[in-house]
Amino acid sequence: MTLRAVATGVGHYLPERVVPNSEFESFLDTTDEWIRTRSGIERRHFAAEGETTSQMAIAAAKNALDMAGLQPDEIDAVVVATSTPDLTFPSVATMVQSGLGMTRGFAYDVQAVCAGFIFALTNANGLILSGQAERVLVIGAETFSRIMDWTDRSTCVLFGDGAGALVLEARTGSGTSQDRGILSCDLNSDGRYRDMLYVDGGVSTSGASGKLRMQGNPLFRQAVSKLTETAERALEKASLGSADVDWIVPHQANIRIIQGTAKKMGLPMEQVIVTVQDHGNTSAASIPLALSVGVQEGKIREGQLLVTEAIGGGLAWGSVVIRW
Ligand code: UT7
Repeated sequence: MTLRAVATGVGHYLPERVVPNSEFESFLDTTDEWIRTRSGIERRHFAAEGETTSQMAIAAAKNALDMAGLQPDEIDAVVVATSTPDLTFPSVATMVQSGLGMTRGFAYDVQAVCAGFIFALTNANGLILSGQAERVLVIGAETFSRIMDWTDRSTCVLFGDGAGALVLEARTGSGTSQDRGILSCDLNSDGRYRDMLYVDGGVSTSGASGKLRMQGNPLFRQAVSKLTETAERALEKASLGSADVDWIVPHQANIRIIQGTAKKMGLPMEQVIVTVQDHGNTSAASIPLALSVGVQEGKIREGQLLVTEAIGGGLAWGSVVIRW
């Protein structure tokens, strides 16, 4: 008998305001055509004035709890992946805890930028396998619109806001790769690449939250090889290979990165969940958003093998293999 962290609920929230590429043409030297062909993005959602990361996280969490058929107080832990918290502290996770009306358990944030959900999922899996928690709410939630430099056409057209949430529950499995739940995790980071993607402010430097800076092209060139390597390593850890995969659920930064990774893994685009056209890059929210949309559209079904992968600021990157 092996303990497994099994996904029993998933949900998401997107802010009401949808911004098409054409809106950027009015104040930037850019075109819908450039954004579409270079990134695959057609539109993104932006949070309303006053709408916060924790509010979006709470809305996504409620949807995930509904699907799992659980009450908030049945949750033992809340782990939120975010780089755009409401406040420097306390954590968004504790805001979610109180927003859901939870009176027990524990909550904290994980910060690994666009790879944040992979790190949070791995962390939550550890909580379950070590007996710290039986039911964990894992959330990715971001308001990247708040850290955009609206004069920088090379970044501000790429990002969006949103939240996705997953309920993980402890279940016993047989110990084989046929079990439902998280089967393997692979985490990586390399701080030598910190200048490739960062925010130019913070508590101990400028005292202000700062704006996002990115060397897009060098990062693009790192992304496909690192994502393929981590996904293949995670599959290998679970004694599986690409041929066993039903769906790749990738971080949604750029359609060309998504296509390049699928190709290197030898899988057709028909086996990839793609939401980048509708959401843009929502950083740590992008994978749980894609999972939720994939389930809602009836693509992802119980028993199927998913490989999730992401890369972002740090650089930090990784992959989680999960049987749905
Ligand atoms: O989520 C974290 C991980 N993030 C990523 O993985 C993002 C990785 N990078 C990318 O997705 C791509 O590198 C971008 C979409 C950011 C850029 O695509 P690219 O094919 O790498 O283009 P580039 O940066 O090499 O720029 C090509 C040209 C440049 O003009 P010149 O120097 O060739 O004259 C840019 O100034 O495109 C120009 N450009 C734009 N033109 C119109 C940059 N942004 C824009 C824009 N509209 N919005």
